Amino acid sequence: MPKGAHTAWGALCDANARLRENNARFGSWFNRVMPKGLYARSLIIIVTPMVILQSVLAFVFMERHYNTVTRRLSAAVSQDITALADLAVAFPSQEGRERVRQIAQSAMGLSVDFLPDEHLPPPGPKPFFSILDSNFTGELGKRLRRPFWTDTVGNSNLIEVRIQFDDMVMRIFARRSQAYLSNSHIFLVWMVGTSLVLLTVAILFLRNQIKPIEALADAAIAFGKGRDVTGFRPRGAREVRGAALAFIEMKRRIERQIEQRTTMLAGVSHDMRTILTRFKLELAFMDERETEALRKDVDELQSMLEAYLAFARDDMGEPPALTDIARLIEEARVAGERHGATVTASFSGDPMVTLRPDAFRRCLANLVANGWRYAGRIDINGTRAERWLIVTVDDDGPGIPPERREEVFRPFFRLDEARNQDEGGSGLGLTIARDAARAHGGDVTLGDSPLGGLRATIRIPV
Ligand SMILES: Nc1ncnc2c1ncn2[C@@H]1O[C@H](COP(=O)(O)OP(=O)(O)OP(=O)(O)O)[C@@H](O)[C@H]1O
Ligand SMILES: [Mg+2]
Repeated sequence: MPKGAHTAWGALCDANARLRENNARFGSWFNRVMPKGLYARSLIIIVTPMVILQSVLAFVFMERHYNTVTRRLSAAVSQDITALADLAVAFPSQEGRERVRQIAQSAMGLSVDFLPDEHLPPPGPKPFFSILDSNFTGELGKRLRRPFWTDTVGNSNLIEVRIQFDDMVMRIFARRSQAYLSNSHIFLVWMVGTSLVLLTVAILFLRNQIKPIEALADAAIAFGKGRDVTGFRPRGAREVRGAALAFIEMKRRIERQIEQRTTMLAGVSHDMRTILTRFKLELAFMDERETEALRKDVDELQSMLEAYLAFARDDMGEPPALTDIARLIEEARVAGERHGATVTASFSGDPMVTLRPDAFRRCLANLVANGWRYAGRIDINGTRAERWLIVTVDDDGPGIPPERREEVFRPFFRLDEARNQDEGGSGLGLTIARDAARAHGGDVTLGDSPLGGLRATIRIPV
């Protein structure tokens, strides 16, 4: 490529990049400025074209029609006045002027009189903005070859013209409406009026269209947070109704699935418990020394089953209620101290939150239990910020390496059996905690604690 072409190409690329950057910046600015709600956005979609259309119409009307008509009217009146002035010169006698006066009155609708030995008054102040004044005075000046004086402001519905002759002044009064399209503001009033009617109709219709969408969104949010969705039924346009029906169907399927899982687990656990009891009975009749290990295993299996049964039962719907989170945190602190740990607790923000109190209590209790089991010091911190309830449980124990932080949420999963050989945990604590948080539309996550151990964070939307 020749050098010139090369630089031109570079400049083009540069310009292109700059354009794209500007576009992106404009896009993000636009998104920031635009209202977020569907209602407001739809209104903008309706109002913007309307305003643009009305403005263009108003402009074209004022510019073309209104100006032209006013100019023509002004021209007609000033032609009449010029003709009268010429007539007055042609017939200077008393009768001649009388005739001119009559012709003006009857044929042109102008009232004329002659003021002998007078001069023009000094020019009055120009009105600041008047199409009439500029048009009319301009037209008159083009035709009349004499000094003249006009007053378009003074007398409300009359305009006055004085023309200087050698020995006198001819004074003419014309009606303002003769030279001026006077009631044009009616057009604007109509325009604004119809726009308002249109807007009202649009608002009413839109509200009816958007209400079902809002109801659907509310229902989905409530369901996501594990709250009851009552009184929701599909309404509105076909698509919205379709989405609502799909949502209801999905909700029903999820609920059915959960219920199925729960009853099945409960059934299996229950059956196995019966068999385990039988095992224990049979073991009791055998020689103690030989069956020691077996008995231990059976005991462990039984406690696992009990935990599992409790877990499965937990799923059975507990209704959400307004709950004092600060109090629950305090309870957890006291429970931790009772088990010999050093526990500090704090809460900031509005403590009243709607959630399932027992599920949340269990979630917190499990995290705190891990604290006193695997560490000595626990710090519980709750905050309520805008739309989230966040509770962190810190401890100074050994922590959990990052790559294992997902595994430990698995049921019956216990890290490093050697570490907690005698602790007798079942490995369900974190599973239950996460399950409870997720039932509220939130989650439990693990991280590093400033105390040196593990930080468990409960996050729940409120
Ligand atoms: N705060 C913690 N510090 C260090 N390790 C932890 C902590 N919390 C949990 N763990 C590890 O994660 C594993 C799983 O914890 P989880 O609470 O699910 O079960 P568990 O405490 O063993 O039994 P359960 O809570 O059912 O009595 C634990 O066995 C432990 O190894
Ligand atoms: Mg535990």
